[in-house]
Amino acid sequence: MSDDASRLWGGRFSGSPAEAFNALNASLDVDRRMWREDILGSRAHARMLAERGIIGQDDLTAIDAGLAQVETEMATGTFVFVPGDEDIHTAVERRLTEIAGEAGRRLHTGRSRNDQVITDTLMWLRQRCEAQSAELRSLAEALLDRAREHLDTLMPGYTHLQRAQPVRLAHHLLAYGWMLDRDHRRLRFAMDSAGECPLGSGALAGSGFPLDREMTASELGFTRISPNSMDAVGSRDALVDYLAFAAQLGVHLSRLGAEFVWWSSDEAGFVVLDDAYASGSSMLPQKRNPDAAELARGRASRLTADLAGLLGTTAGLPLAYNKDLQDDKHYLFDAADTLDLLLPAITGMVATARFRPEVMGAAVEGGYLAATDLADHLVREGWAFRRAHEAVGALVRACSVRGVGFDGATGDDLREAGLDGVDLPSLTAEASVEAKDVPGGTARARVVEQLEALAQRVAGW
Ligand code: ARG
Repeated sequence: MSDDASRLWGGRFSGSPAEAFNALNASLDVDRRMWREDILGSRAHARMLAERGIIGQDDLTAIDAGLAQVETEMATGTFVFVPGDEDIHTAVERRLTEIAGEAGRRLHTGRSRNDQVITDTLMWLRQRCEAQSAELRSLAEALLDRAREHLDTLMPGYTHLQRAQPVRLAHHLLAYGWMLDRDHRRLRFAMDSAGECPLGSGALAGSGFPLDREMTASELGFTRISPNSMDAVGSRDALVDYLAFAAQLGVHLSRLGAEFVWWSSDEAGFVVLDDAYASGSSMLPQKRNPDAAELARGRASRLTADLAGLLGTTAGLPLAYNKDLQDDKHYLFDAADTLDLLLPAITGMVATARFRPEVMGAAVEGGYLAATDLADHLVREGWAFRRAHEAVGALVRACSVRGVGFDGATGDDLREAGLDGVDLPSLTAEASVEAKDVPGGTARARVVEQLEALAQRVAGW
């Protein structure tokens, strides 16, 4: 078959497409990875056509056998693409027709590439979501394990990157666990969006054949059929839902990465990354670089750009299908691939990192992290909070001028702060975290409570 004859839409044309146009128009390099979905979709469509008497049983037999051969060729890498194979749909149908002849030419009855491509893409997406749900779960479990291990490790909690109040390392790690829980909800939402089957919407208006849309939808694992053919072929909302999930998860991983970058710095020294998740410098022999954490920090940019890219592509498009939409898979695949690289690496990094409770403990004892606890103590003694805040602030000023902590405060310091005759309570970090005994607070029992709640949620993912 010549290149021209192999084109699916050649009938109306007398001239051939320019090479430059073909190069721009073709999407095979991007969408060939959906070959499995394309074959599955074609098989289901053919079975339904036969069931409805739209093609004969002999056609179905020939199509099934032909598709089986195409599948083998694809799976073994022996499939030969030809220059006219504009996209994966064209390639599969062209080859099927070579093998099955006239029966192959009947396959596209009642179908358009417009409903075919989005059907394939949603199938691909659903499968990928399942796999990423498991990857997300592994990361959440790593965080839960490390939190369990470090319930009693105290560290400074920060605001503005200034030491603020003592927290448990478990509490800090679980904060990321809860972010992932929300991410997982978004992932489920995207999976649900991808559960609506567009097949049977045709090019835009539906089909004049009595297609059994429910049959193909359920055979292909969709939960329902799309209610509007123009919306079905013109919308990429399910992909946007996935990309919104990926972008938000990317931002969470970026923040987690940023924590590990500075926790592992010489300045903080809170964590030592395992050799398996650090790399050296080609020039500086002493270096152990937190590359995985840095890449997690940086890749948020790719993931948010993918979301913005697809939103930008669909904005302003009149209904229904427009070729602009062909770029959807570029964004989708990039985001999915990026997460597939990031999630296992970050899980490994978290699971193997060696936290240094002694360094965190020293950081939490120095400074004035107990300032709020002291103010709270005064409030319990009957002081108005604003007065207590001011007095403790003055005491911090007095002590810091002399470079001592609260335990080094003299009678003069207390006098200067207006805290004459006040007995300073014991201000340990342990007492401080235990005092935060509200739901969601740092008291041990509260952290155990949220850990169990999160573990239960993750088990249900
Ligand atoms: N390769 C196209 C895409 O990815 C398939 C649909 C093309 N439809 C058409 N009428 N040209 O969007």
